Amino acid sequence: MTSTENEPTNSVELQLARDTLGPFIDAPTAQLFLPQARQIPQAAWEIIRKVLEKNPQAREDVACLTKLLAEESQAALDLNVADLGANDAAEPSGFSLKPAERLPLTDKCHHYTGQHEVPWDIQKYFSQRYSIFSYYDDGVHMTDDAWFGVTPEPVANQIAYELSQDHYDPKKTTLIDAFGGAGGNTIAFALSERWERIISIERDADTLACAQHNAELYGVDPGAITWILGDSFDYVDKLVNSPEKLHPDLRVDLQTTMVFASPPWGGPGYRTDEVFDLSTMQPYSLHQLHEAYKKMDHLLFLPRTSDIRQIAKLAPEGQKLEVIQYCVEGASKAMGAYIPGDISPASEE
Ligand SMILES: C[S@@+](CC[C@H](N)C(=O)[O-])C[C@H]1O[C@@H](n2cnc3c(N)ncnc32)[C@H](O)[C@@H]1O
Repeated sequence: MTSTENEPTNSVELQLARDTLGPFIDAPTAQLFLPQARQIPQAAWEIIRKVLEKNPQAREDVACLTKLLAEESQAALDLNVADLGANDAAEPSGFSLKPAERLPLTDKCHHYTGQHEVPWDIQKYFSQRYSIFSYYDDGVHMTDDAWFGVTPEPVANQIAYELSQDHYDPKKTTLIDAFGGAGGNTIAFALSERWERIISIERDADTLACAQHNAELYGVDPGAITWILGDSFDYVDKLVNSPEKLHPDLRVDLQTTMVFASPPWGGPGYRTDEVFDLSTMQPYSLHQLHEAYKKMDHLLFLPRTSDIRQIAKLAPEGQKLEVIQYCVEGASKAMGAYIPGDISPASEE
């Protein structure tokens, strides 16, 4: 049985950091960023390098680096926004977030056929490949990281079923899958044929290529899913606060949209604690997830030991929340928390 687990910082992300920082990777302050390399996009490494290059003190002094980074980031942001304004009028493809093309599979996308080919830390998951993807042998592709987080097909089908039956709200016609991964949930949502639109976001291009490929293998209608290569927090933030900055095809009505979020799981005590403190969940805490999605109904897919008292606090006044344990062969593998959004037609006007 596989479950969503912490995603290690792997050599790809470290290589990106090395390539971008060059000689500055050895600076004591730069070293502090490396454990979080997975969360740091190339544009941010470029800003870090620029600051380290210009300011020798920032190579040693964290406070100095932090201050200069804040200044640089604001300047970069101002620049992007200005660029965006110019592009908005002329050419929709100038938007930073736009529907992704069909991406080609890369050498990071594998279809392992025998145990001998499989890296040691994935072997446990490989032996359960048919309960992860029943069409595995048809050519399902995964990145090595994706094995750690993919939602197994029976669980993904159950979630899709619930959203089309028990939790069916006819007003919700668009679903955002905020952490698309290799497609486990996105494919099940599409096959349920319950949604007029599905928007699936993944920030890793190799993983997104696998998801697109796997969706095709499962016979998903090519037009059923709008894929986005990018940061889902950025997308949701723009959707809620400045939709004009989004490509027109990505602007959806908050009142008819809900979010499904299966973030990476990790953090201190995640594997060992009887009750997992969701305020320490990494890389995204419960608070961060809820803050991002709170305008819309959202279903959070969380570790099975998640602290239910912390989830209960997210209930809107006077309402109860539904929390579901997802089991495979009698053992709980994950917890789902269904949280209503706080948008109302009046607050939208
Ligand atoms: C637990 S996996 C999701 C698995 C997915 N539900 C499936 O069944 O294949 C989390 C995924 O979210 C991606 N991710 C992490 N942070 C992200 C972000 N801020 N925006 C978009 N994708 C992100 C990771 O690259 C990873 O593929």
